[in-house]
Amino acid sequence: MNVNRKVLTLDEFTIQQLRDFPHATGELSNLLRDIGLAAKRVNVEVNKAGLVDILGDAGAVNVQGEDVKKLDIFANNQLVGVLRHGISCAGIGSEELDDVVIFDDEVSNNSKYVCLFDPLDGSGNIDVNVSIGTIFGIYRRISERGKACERADFLQPGIRQIAAGYVVYGSSTMMVYATRRGVNGFTLDPSIGEFTLSHPNIRCPENGKIYSVNHGNFFQYPENIQRYIEVCQKKDKTNGGPYTQRYIGSMVADVHRNLIKGGLFMYPPTRDKPGGKLRLLYECNPFAFIVEVAGGRATDGKQRILEIQPVELHQRSPLFIGSTNMMTELETVGNF
Ligand code: AHG
Ligand code: MN
Ligand code: MN
Repeated sequence: MNVNRKVLTLDEFTIQQLRDFPHATGELSNLLRDIGLAAKRVNVEVNKAGLVDILGDAGAVNVQGEDVKKLDIFANNQLVGVLRHGISCAGIGSEELDDVVIFDDEVSNNSKYVCLFDPLDGSGNIDVNVSIGTIFGIYRRISERGKACERADFLQPGIRQIAAGYVVYGSSTMMVYATRRGVNGFTLDPSIGEFTLSHPNIRCPENGKIYSVNHGNFFQYPENIQRYIEVCQKKDKTNGGPYTQRYIGSMVADVHRNLIKGGLFMYPPTRDKPGGKLRLLYECNPFAFIVEVAGGRATDGKQRILEIQPVELHQRSPLFIGSTNMMTELETVGNF
């Protein structure tokens, strides 16, 4: 095996980052390592998704609902398991669980952080071999350490995230995470089973040419959003275009692509879903944090995503996120 020592593993990287903080306890590195471990286990199952042992009989008619559920729940259980048994997390909130889970044991009660996650994002894409992901946001608890954490720890505005990240199970598997210091991407090297630093200091290009939105909902969007989509469609060489439309239906994959290449992802309000579809706490907030640290922006059409005061674990929010100049263009055209 040829392990290139110039490439840092996720663990090596997070531990190196600590050197600049003499008082750091290493709990955040532990937490990121725990999430990485869960992600590796999920990755193994995602890669087997076409095989009978996870999907059941391939000939079964009603595959989708059941299959999706299996991997969603598997991913959820892996995350809850590693975080519960790790030393850094006092409790979690998950898309798959109605309520927050407060670990309330001696080790967890002394932990600094709580974690919110979407264990498997884009789950409708599992059985068609399209990229899916995991999304997470980490907060320092505001409740007193030594005691069980509390609901209020999970309902902090996204601006208070200490770190946020995602894993994309794609043509390769990658974990990207942000702290206030920067955004870094790690690709899973299957030959050694380690996430290795492949995309140091990711910056979201200021300009982009990709817009990502579900066109099927076009006539359900507010008029100002329709207007902006039409502007995107009419772009040509004379005015900074042409733009390209890309929308896969897994926000992890869609936002990841736009973060790297430059672009704008939208999930606007629709007539049926006036509050949007995406969940504020474990979909919008982590991505808003990552994209802002990378130099981009994220709003709900009215205010910065990261400043919204959450009131409920599963609340939804419209989302507009991406390259700064495209965000400005959206706001100008849409008269936000
Ligand atoms: P999840 O699989 O966690 O329920 O999330 C799916 C989300 C998101 O990933 C994606 O961008 C969006 O749903 C797609 O929704 P539409 O099919 O309505 O466009
Ligand atoms: Mn999701
Ligand atoms: Mn999900």
